[in-house]
This record gives sequence, structure tokens and C-alpha cells, in this order.
Amino acid sequence: MALQFSRLGPHMGIAAEGLDLSVPPPAGTVAELRAALLEGLVLCIRGRPLAPAAYVAAMRAFGAPRAQLGAHRLHPDAEEIMILSSEDRDVRGDGSRIVIGAAWHTDDSFMAVPCSLTILHGVKVPETGGDTQFVNMYAAHDALDAETRRRLDGLRVVHRYDSSRKANRVNTRTAAEVALTPDVDHPIVRTHPETGRKALYLNPNRMEQVVGMERAESDRLLDALIAHATEPRFQYRHKWSPGDILIWDNRCTMHKANADYPEGSRREMHRIILEGTRPV
Ligand code: SIN
Repeated sequence: MALQFSRLGPHMGIAAEGLDLSVPPPAGTVAELRAALLEGLVLCIRGRPLAPAAYVAAMRAFGAPRAQLGAHRLHPDAEEIMILSSEDRDVRGDGSRIVIGAAWHTDDSFMAVPCSLTILHGVKVPETGGDTQFVNMYAAHDALDAETRRRLDGLRVVHRYDSSRKANRVNTRTAAEVALTPDVDHPIVRTHPETGRKALYLNPNRMEQVVGMERAESDRLLDALIAHATEPRFQYRHKWSPGDILIWDNRCTMHKANADYPEGSRREMHRIILEGTRPV
């Protein structure tokens, strides 16, 4: 079957079918896939679950994998892969179920140089629930009125791993882990390094405060922008099929996992993140 593309949602999302990723894709195919990703922001490559080594080898075509925090979640056969599982439990806390990424976020914004792309491979997917939702942050930016855009011009936001604005605070990190993630600041509107388009750059999980703005005003502004960016008109909701490889662009999207699948059904995602560039 030849490589075929189709649209997934009205606002974003492109599916690619007809690829055999048990061997790394040739350069021409990678160029087509990259173009589809830049256009669709989220690219779903349909296929069968891949063994870890084949998955990592194929995804290297999109960039260099970056080390991920949380050594206890790394795949025993491939350190580039983090396993996100319905069996995850808070081993350092009370043992309760953990769902990574259940609130809107963009990956790695607590780093000075965040990852560019995230890749998630649905090795086991529940029959119902467990969708991943996305928002198009170009569209959210473009829909702002002119006065708000002027107000945002030049603003920067402190991103903190354990932001005090976050609903679920992290209180079980070791001193070594804390030392790895000092505060950073990023522009509130960033320009995509490949498309040149402007996107809102928000992370409700990690944003602490607008630089130079009094706390209450900063909270009001960030809350209003988050409410705007997560409106349904900017969203795509991905329903997983087993074997899907979903690649998304963290420079112009936010996403969240849904923990609404029944207790006892299995969800196992293999996650790779790729090196990025400093937001400007
Ligand atoms: C993530 O936020 O990286 C995980 C998303 C998901 O599991 O659907």
C-alpha cells in the first residue's frame, strides 16, 4: 500500500497510512511526513505495535531523542523510551494511580531549551476512553484581538517545574531532581523556527508568573489566555487505535491525557521526546 494522508480533525491532525516502520523510513518519506506534521501539528502514523529498538530507530528520522526525567519509568530495553502506563502508581507517595499529563500542557517548558516534538506509541490502548486532546496554539494566537496581541508583545513568563498555580503539586521530588530544573522564562508568544508562524506559548502546569507583573494581574491574564486557548474551537481529540504512533509539535500545541478508561483496562504508551531550540 502506498503512503496516504488524510485529515483527522477540522482544526488539526493528519493521519498517514501505508508505512512499514519496522525499518527506518527513507529520506523522501521522512520529508513527506515532516511536511504533514508542520501542516497538521499532530501526525498519526497508523501501524502495528513496534519493538522498542525498531521504534527508536524509526523515530530518529525526526530528530535526536532527548533524555527524560523519571528514571523509574524508562524502558528496560531502550533508555530513550519512557513508559506511561495505566499501572503507574505513586511509588514515593501513597501508592495511588498516576496519570501523567492529565492537565493541559506543552512538554518540557520548564527547560530553557524545551523538546520540539513528542512521540507517543500506543502499544496497548483501552477499548473506551484514554483519548489525547490537543489545541492549536497558532489558531489560538491568531484569534486574539489586536489589543490583546499588543499587550502580549514582549511579555515573558517564568516557568517552574512545581508551579504554585498547578492543581496537583509535586511534593516527592529529591533534592537532586529539584536541582535539575531551575526556573526559566519564555516568551508568551513564540515564533515557530520552521514555519515562522506565531503561536501562544502557555503551559498551565508550569507557568508561575508573568515577568515584571504583579501577581494578581498576572494570574488574571494567564487564566484568561488558558481559557481562550482551550476552547473547543481550537481542539482535536485523538481516539487511539493499537499501534498508532502520534507525533506532535510542542512549539504550537498543548495537549492532555484523559484518565476516563475503566479500571482494569490497560493503556501503555511509549514516549520519546526530541531535542528542540530555545523559544523566541
Ligand atoms: C503526555 O502528556 O505526554 C501523555 C499524553 C497521553 O498519555 O495521552
